[in-house]
Amino acid sequence: MTTFGYEQSLGYDRRATRLLTGLYRRIAADVDTRAPDSATVIDLGTGPGKLLAHLATRRPDLHLHGIDLSPHMIEIARRAFTEQAVELAVADVAELPHPDASIDVAVSSLSMHEWPDLPAAVAELRRVLRPGGGAAIYDFRFARTREIRRALGAVFGTVEIETVRLPWHPVAVITCYRVTA
Ligand SMILES: C[S@@+](CC[C@H](N)C(=O)[O-])C[C@H]1O[C@@H](n2cnc3c(N)ncnc32)[C@H](O)[C@@H]1O
Repeated sequence: MTTFGYEQSLGYDRRATRLLTGLYRRIAADVDTRAPDSATVIDLGTGPGKLLAHLATRRPDLHLHGIDLSPHMIEIARRAFTEQAVELAVADVAELPHPDASIDVAVSSLSMHEWPDLPAAVAELRRVLRPGGGAAIYDFRFARTREIRRALGAVFGTVEIETVRLPWHPVAVITCYRVTA
């Protein structure tokens, strides 16, 4: 499996800052309304950690975690969090280094369509979520939609689906999949 190399990760970091701020703001606002005080939140496939940075500013009470398969992405994310305590790790979503039932809210942006083994990743997501905890997975609207829906539904039952239109974009290109443990 190929992962983001160092130059590619730096390039993504620059583009994400320029193009995706509206999406990160939207997801951070979503998590803000759903995460209880001092909740433990994980960003799956965090890349350079942009969403975590928005969350850290908006909700300093949260215990933030981020994982990514690419060590270069995690290296770049680490540089962004010299002040705040954000737990970052190189890991595959299908093999999370977190204990069972340790996460209140899981979130992910533009990553799930890249996960090679969706059933294994979703089983892992279910394992780490606390009973009553939830996940909001934002991804491209036309990328592996049916497969993602099927994998989430097989483990969580109900999958709420929302089409997300960002303020600056003429067409809705993002889908949010929401599940509860
Ligand atoms: C398009 S980037 C999105 C990064 C970030 N979530 C954002 O919105 O800016 C996709 C990220 O998913 C990560 N990724 C892909 N497959 C993964 C897997 N199996 N486990 C963990 N991370 C994965 C990639 O390394 C990459 O950093």
